[in-house]
Amino acid sequence: MTDQGDPGSVPKAGTTVSPQTARFQIAARTRQAHEALHHHPLIGRLLADDLSVPEYRRILCVFRDVFVAAENCRSASGAFDDFSLRRQCKALLQDAPSASQDMSDDLFYFGTDHEVLGMLYTLHGAQFGGAVIRQHLKQTLPMAPMAYYGLKPDPQNWKSLVVELDQSCKQKGALDCISTGARQTFELIDAVASAANAAGIGASQHNTTLAVGGQPTNGGL
Ligand code: HEM
Repeated sequence: MTDQGDPGSVPKAGTTVSPQTARFQIAARTRQAHEALHHHPLIGRLLADDLSVPEYRRILCVFRDVFVAAENCRSASGAFDDFSLRRQCKALLQDAPSASQDMSDDLFYFGTDHEVLGMLYTLHGAQFGGAVIRQHLKQTLPMAPMAYYGLKPDPQNWKSLVVELDQSCKQKGALDCISTGARQTFELIDAVASAANAAGIGASQHNTTLAVGGQPTNGGL
């Protein structure tokens, strides 16, 4: 894994993330769930030369609903305001405006701040792949809405998040909890994208059995 202190820059060969860091451990524990998205029938299309506008719109709807629900969850926890997802939510709502207001309040039920921190690792870390995907989209869909994929990386915010991960992981059991939150967030994106793909619609009409963390009223992942 490369230490991309500056997520917007092309990975620098030779500089690595120390295995002692929480980030390295979390990345290792979520690699399978992350790479499953690279091969997902919808999300994986982001790097396809023949990606269509309806597919891209559906992917943006999936990300919009997941990021808005995640920011609602973070805000409800009252924690990690420095790592809010407001910037990404604003861009995704610009790219994929949504009719319904309460579209995403039923996706995240994390009961601990450590799980919320894991969720924030996954969603802020998406800017790494985003840098690669942005270059590709400029070729494949140059006229498509790009507020989200056009977002300027925030290297200082990422560095502060990595420091927060290391600090938190000094607490017993924190690494397991944070990794669970991070992995379940990848898995939720996978499930919401699969539901949107199966229904051939924007995500906001997904059924309410998709959720992560504690016990939603009717089942969950
Ligand atoms: C087709 C879809 C995707 C591609 C091609 C992709 C590609 C990448 C690449 C190339 C990296 C840098 C890896 C490295 O430095 O070793 C990365 C890192 C990362 N991606 Fe993805 N990604 C995709 C989807 C996603 C999604 C949907 C999310 C979450 C919303 C995500 C979250 C992350 C995270 C958290 C990291 C940082 C890991 C770390 O360095 O600690 N990725 N991705």
